[in-house]
Amino acid sequence: MTVRIEFARPDDWHVHLRDDEMLAAVVDHSARWFRKALVMPNLTPPITSAAQAVAYRERILAAVTVDAPHFDPVMSLYLTADLSPAEVTRAWNEGAICSIKFYPAGATTNSDAGGTSLLQFAPVLETMASLGVPLLVHAESTDPALDIFDREAAFLVDEVAPVLERMPELSVTVEHISTSTGIDMVRQFDQAYGSITPHHLTCDRSDILANGLRPELYCKPVINSAEHRKALAAAALSGDPKFFLGTDSAPHPLSAKEARVAKAGIFNAPYALEVVAELFHEHDALDRFEAFVSGNGAARYGVEPSTDRLVMERTEPAVAPVDTLETAAGDVVRLFGVAEAALWSISLL
Ligand code: DOR
Ligand code: ZN
Repeated sequence: MTVRIEFARPDDWHVHLRDDEMLAAVVDHSARWFRKALVMPNLTPPITSAAQAVAYRERILAAVTVDAPHFDPVMSLYLTADLSPAEVTRAWNEGAICSIKFYPAGATTNSDAGGTSLLQFAPVLETMASLGVPLLVHAESTDPALDIFDREAAFLVDEVAPVLERMPELSVTVEHISTSTGIDMVRQFDQAYGSITPHHLTCDRSDILANGLRPELYCKPVINSAEHRKALAAAALSGDPKFFLGTDSAPHPLSAKEARVAKAGIFNAPYALEVVAELFHEHDALDRFEAFVSGNGAARYGVEPSTDRLVMERTEPAVAPVDTLETAAGDVVRLFGVAEAALWSISLL
């Protein structure tokens, strides 16, 4: 008998849609199946005002070419030293944003405008706490003395925990959790939540390094050990409402991914659902798939799940999955999850 699941149209609570030709090449892959897309603000220059967020959202919607009336990008401001409590209040009250994103300066792509410490932004964080604006945290220390595989845990312990303790009214999403430290911290604090990516759920560092170097699996925070992968998968598979899907789909041209100094980021939006479904299938947990991709994140961000229903069947899709796409500028981008995409078909009920 064919394995079949039916679920509310999912949301992607963390995605990089870029701009210009890259936006045009990738946005349909998010719009086809996802409803909400929480769009990251790390453009150059970053999105730092309500007006910029509104204009970027319009560019995103204008770039969609598939029939997707359901698609609803929701925006975030980039937390910089110049972001004032007044601008946060304006953006929130206008409905221009659903969150504010903190990047540690230097940790990842276009993070230079970020900060070194969370508490340097205490006045803005206090405003967010009083308004109810969620804080999204890229939790990664930039201390060069620390081993790269220990940097998420260090940032969580040194920076995130003190903020959670000092501001119990501030709700925080630990983004793209890559370690068991992140899982434990989210469980420890009532106001903390965690997004998890398809690649951190299904890959570990041996996949990057053991059988030839695979730059396509290089991202920030770096994919960690098998032990951490299992802790992430256990949290997602458990149905715990604190954890939900954020793909962190982050396209880069192949020329940047396979360069001498490679860019971090994995383009997984096209096949994210297939990768996650295959994991839940392998663990006999498909009854909890809907919570992870459609229910938990919506509840965290205070929206009802979509009333659209999707169906996934574990059967070869009618059209074989492609493994690269090309932008109008001639850049090639590699897709993550091709093997899983060849196992599942998706349709609208
Ligand atoms: O791997 C990553 N790529 N991690 C991030 O935090 C940013 C992203 C990007 O924008 O390329
Ligand atoms: Zn990201």
